[in-house]
Amino acid sequence: MKPVNKESWNKIEQYFKVIKNKRITDFFDPDRLKHFTFDFNTIYFDFSKHRWDQKMLDLWVDFAEDMQTHQAINAMFKGAIINKTEQRAVLHTALRQQDNQAVLVNGSNVIPEIRATEKKIKNFTDKVISGNWKGTSGKPITDIVNIGIGGSDLGPKMVVKALSDYRNHLKVHFLSNIDPFELDALLRHIDLETTLFLVVSKSFSTQETLTNARAIQQIYKQKFGAQSIGKHFATVSTQVAKAQAFGIHPDNIFPMWDWVGGRYSLWSPAGLAIPLAIGFENFQLLKLGASEMDRHFKTADFHQNLPAIAAFLTILYNNFYGFETEAYIPYADKLQYLPDFLQQLIMESNGKSVSLSNDKVNWQTGNIVWGNIGTNAQHSFFQLLHQGTKIVPVNFIAEKQNAQTGFKAHHQILLANMIAQAEALMIGDSNEIIYKNFEGNRPSTTILLEELTPQNLGSLLAYYEHKTFVEAWLWQINAFDQFGVELGKRLAQNVLEDLKNKTQRQHDASTNALIQRVKN
Ligand code: F6P
Repeated sequence: MKPVNKESWNKIEQYFKVIKNKRITDFFDPDRLKHFTFDFNTIYFDFSKHRWDQKMLDLWVDFAEDMQTHQAINAMFKGAIINKTEQRAVLHTALRQQDNQAVLVNGSNVIPEIRATEKKIKNFTDKVISGNWKGTSGKPITDIVNIGIGGSDLGPKMVVKALSDYRNHLKVHFLSNIDPFELDALLRHIDLETTLFLVVSKSFSTQETLTNARAIQQIYKQKFGAQSIGKHFATVSTQVAKAQAFGIHPDNIFPMWDWVGGRYSLWSPAGLAIPLAIGFENFQLLKLGASEMDRHFKTADFHQNLPAIAAFLTILYNNFYGFETEAYIPYADKLQYLPDFLQQLIMESNGKSVSLSNDKVNWQTGNIVWGNIGTNAQHSFFQLLHQGTKIVPVNFIAEKQNAQTGFKAHHQILLANMIAQAEALMIGDSNEIIYKNFEGNRPSTTILLEELTPQNLGSLLAYYEHKTFVEAWLWQINAFDQFGVELGKRLAQNVLEDLKNKTQRQHDASTNALIQRVKN
């Protein structure tokens, strides 16, 4: 099924020619906000500042229906093997399902195992937070270090910061990179006697994670003896046997399942740092919010379906307008790591050029995602957003209330800036001095959360996950594998062996020269 061969795609193409040179402001009829803004619980979504109109949205809805998108959504929720290249189901949604309705993977219900694991997480996190979990010298835990990378880092790290207002006394650190600078800095800041390490690796084979974990384990063994490992290390992995062989006590091993993709795994035990930082109940609320978005995604008509609408816009810009990148600008420091998280979620999912039927695609897929917090970003790259030759659709995200701070005036300035930037991008400003002219007509989405609560954050993240899924489906690519990361890993192994002098492979001249320089 090639999307670009569909008559419904062709209709979008035809109508695009009609509207492509129009200004967003021309689309603002009296019903604009009625059709393009939505309240979801206490989150407001504004899709009105975009280069489309009602008819264009109708055509996208027709296309999505023509592509049998509802069937694809149902197949995912039901546990069908939709990740065909890896022969896996895709069930991050089951992890936040609120009822106990069976979800079958190859005939076996995954819900009982999820509930048992939740119980284990609750007992473990309660024990650590209450101080009943003692380190090797009998002292309670004060610091948590999550050792993991990619999906085993970005999701939990982003959520822990986003929900800073809900944090308890535990200090939570994230060690991801293999650059020893990070490890050195961390070791200077923690007390080993009161630190608990979470080794999070779905595959339990990731070089960076295992090398960091091994180095720290070694320090414990030398300082406190091998029995200290049981008190200071827990792990999350699908590879229980490997984790045990690594020396992790079986009671401290949390299972993961191959039907959860790494970048979709913060709802699973891979997100263990989250309930440790904010308590188990708040972790459950995060999942409740996600499940509410799941229900909306499954049941809402595409005219009102938030993840679907957002996906239509991305494809409209990527495949028709030729705007290849999208910026995510949270006006909330607590969401500082959201752009990093979204980069993996969106680009590792949709950076593919082979279709579901194993053909090379001849249409554009995965767009480029980047961003930083506002207002800081205004003082660095917003120049390009306003006057550059490239058009970058912007996603603004903020919370309306910021209950935890007494500095109300600051928050008001922050929000005023966000609203004004969206307005400025759209309306521009004509000036006869050409370099002072703002052409405007630059699109943006604004998402305003009443407050950054666990529940709202859960809904927001599920919205992005499902947006990514709809894009992948309409592009007919598999969002859930990531073979593109493998070649670099394999070659790094070769280069490492060459650096250690074990082998002397012939690389290209440039690579040879770099290896020689590092060696000498
Ligand atoms: O190399 C990419 C990747 O496999 C990501 O997909 C994943 O989130 C990350 O590495 C970490 O993998 P793991 O949890 O297996 O250590």
